[in-house]
Amino acid sequence: MELKLKSAILIFIVLPFISASLIPESSVTTEKLVKKHGYSIEEHQVQTADGYILTMHRIPYSPKLNNSLVEDKPIVFLQHGLLCSSSDWVLLGPESALAYLLSDQGYDVWMGNARGNRYSRKHAKYSPTLLKFWNFDWNEIAIHDLPAMIDYILFTQNQTQVTYAGHSQGTTTYLVMSSMIPNFASKIRSAHLLSPVAFMGNMESTLVYLLAPVLGHPNGLVEVLGSAEFLPNTQVMEILGQKACSDEAKYQELCANVLFLIAGYDDENLNRTMIPEILAVTPAGASVHQITHYLQEFRSGYFRQFDHFYYRNKKRYGSYSPPNYDLKQLTAPVHFYYGTNDKLASVTDVMKLAGSVPKSALKGNYKVPHEKFNHLDFIWAIHVKELLYDKVIKDINSYF
Ligand SMILES: *[C@@H]1O[C@H](CO)[C@@H](O)[C@H](O)[C@H]1NC(C)=O
Ligand SMILES: *[C@@H]1O[C@H](CO)[C@@H](O)[C@H](O)[C@H]1NC(C)=O
Ligand SMILES: *[C@@H]1O[C@H](CO)[C@@H](O)[C@H](O)[C@H]1NC(C)=O
Repeated sequence: MELKLKSAILIFIVLPFISASLIPESSVTTEKLVKKHGYSIEEHQVQTADGYILTMHRIPYSPKLNNSLVEDKPIVFLQHGLLCSSSDWVLLGPESALAYLLSDQGYDVWMGNARGNRYSRKHAKYSPTLLKFWNFDWNEIAIHDLPAMIDYILFTQNQTQVTYAGHSQGTTTYLVMSSMIPNFASKIRSAHLLSPVAFMGNMESTLVYLLAPVLGHPNGLVEVLGSAEFLPNTQVMEILGQKACSDEAKYQELCANVLFLIAGYDDENLNRTMIPEILAVTPAGASVHQITHYLQEFRSGYFRQFDHFYYRNKKRYGSYSPPNYDLKQLTAPVHFYYGTNDKLASVTDVMKLAGSVPKSALKGNYKVPHEKFNHLDFIWAIHVKELLYDKVIKDINSYF
């Protein structure tokens, strides 16, 4: 690897990690992004069964439709990926971002924020400065956060079902929730999983190859070290983005290459002008165990619960290896959407997933018709509307 690229990775990964919670968050928020375009936005807080206080963002109606007073608008719930937040659904603006497109179709759009990201760093008892706060992975996001958020929406709106759409970790958590809480299926009208991540044995991301040997090996080390905060949102990335990655900056191409390295190379779909905006909202924060759990899936090839290592597994799960998530429990209609150049959700792994859910639930497995479509194109691609969202919206509409 070129030295420049190596140093860039080091800066992008290490700097925000060290800076941790000492530095204020970036000034770009979901609320500001949405207001800028003349849409209304609401903030709702909900407490999970285990004490985390989560913030949801809602675009209740579209200024283009005069439907603010229409009651019982159908609800779509959007759940972001790893190290991301509700901002990802609105970053592209009203012409192409999924939240606005759905709002313009007459939907009541709710966007979740998983525990640990910048909007959900609160707990009834623990401060995020305590390691105890970070003792969770996406298994807990799936079994506590998603049900708490969706139940809150259904209760306050007096409705019985939501349409679910998720990206990356937002698909993993949907699959885990559906496996662990099969009854919840009655509350899902249909689910639309963009770049579904469950089996990971064939993942190709360079970054993952670098990290997996250290963090993905269940050797007791993860237990001793415990979890902690990973890549919180800070002003550092906002400033770095403006200084180093803007149209005028010398290093914009380097910034683009760091993103390609993580997600796959797709020159045509990365709007370079947007890189500073992307960096202002990403990374949005997560726990180390979320990363560790993914790296374990990569190493083992299984879609299963967190590996606490041999004896601790026995104590916790009653078996020396962690139990698999039972994908046969999925009953609500589900659609997958995948990209052929997605370094994190490889085609082989998506096909394995599609073969593991009940045939009666699997209603679609759509290949995005662009060879280079990568993991982050699902939320940021220049042509994401034509290539993907028009199809997703058509699928969502077909259930009404
Ligand atoms: C908006 O909707 C209300 C009630 O449905 C109606 O009375 C009003 O004329 C509409 N306004 C426009 C500009 O369509
Ligand atoms: C909630 O919805 C049910 C069924 O649609 C209806 O009968 C009931 O009156 C509604 N309750 C409120 C408080 O709007
Ligand atoms: C790229 O992003 C900039 C800044 O957000 C925006 O003004 C421009 O329209 C985008 N270009 C394309 C081709 O989407």
